[in-house]
Amino acid sequence: LQIYTRRFGESDDDKCLVAEVGGTIVGAVWTRIMDDYGHIDDHTPSLAISLYKKYRGNGIGAAMMKAMLDLLKKSGYRRVSLSVQKENFAVNLYRKVGFEITADHGEEYIMVYDLKALPESESEQIM
Ligand SMILES: CC(C)(COP(=O)(O)OP(=O)(O)OC[C@H]1O[C@@H](n2cnc3c(N)ncnc32)[C@H](O)[C@@H]1OP(=O)(O)O)[C@@H](O)C(=O)NCCC(=O)NCCS
Repeated sequence: LQIYTRRFGESDDDKCLVAEVGGTIVGAVWTRIMDDYGHIDDHTPSLAISLYKKYRGNGIGAAMMKAMLDLLKKSGYRRVSLSVQKENFAVNLYRKVGFEITADHGEEYIMVYDLKALPESESEQIM
């Protein structure tokens, strides 16, 4: 698991956005180019996202995803990828924001978002 967090921030490819409620950080979405399950090539960041349980199901995850896609587009990336367990409802969330399934690895999907297709500041319009 250390590949997700170790020395995070030392590379310009390490990006993170957090959600705050009343000054408390309740969740984060972060991307880095790493050799994790979602890795597709050495130019494409992989995305991870998590919220504390209490704050799930209120639209925060979807809002964080959209903000991160916007940041990645502005940073010049062409694509972003992730891996997700098929049984995780997050598959639907990822589909809804525009990720597509590109590989089926048994219990997991690899999903990819084409940032070239995202208009500038799309997230500001749809958040
Ligand atoms: C995945 C996660 C980040 C989503 O964030 P969230 O704030 O809970 O999600 P949202 O409230 O934005 O919901 C997004 C969609 O999922 C649906 N949803 C939310 N919780 C759900 C649940 N428990 N079961 C089924 N659908 C659910 C919402 O209804 C919404 O769909 P809609 O727009 O059609 O209503 C969060 O639930 C989480 O931290 N989960 C645990 C960690 C994890 O699984 N990370 C992903 C690993 S790949």
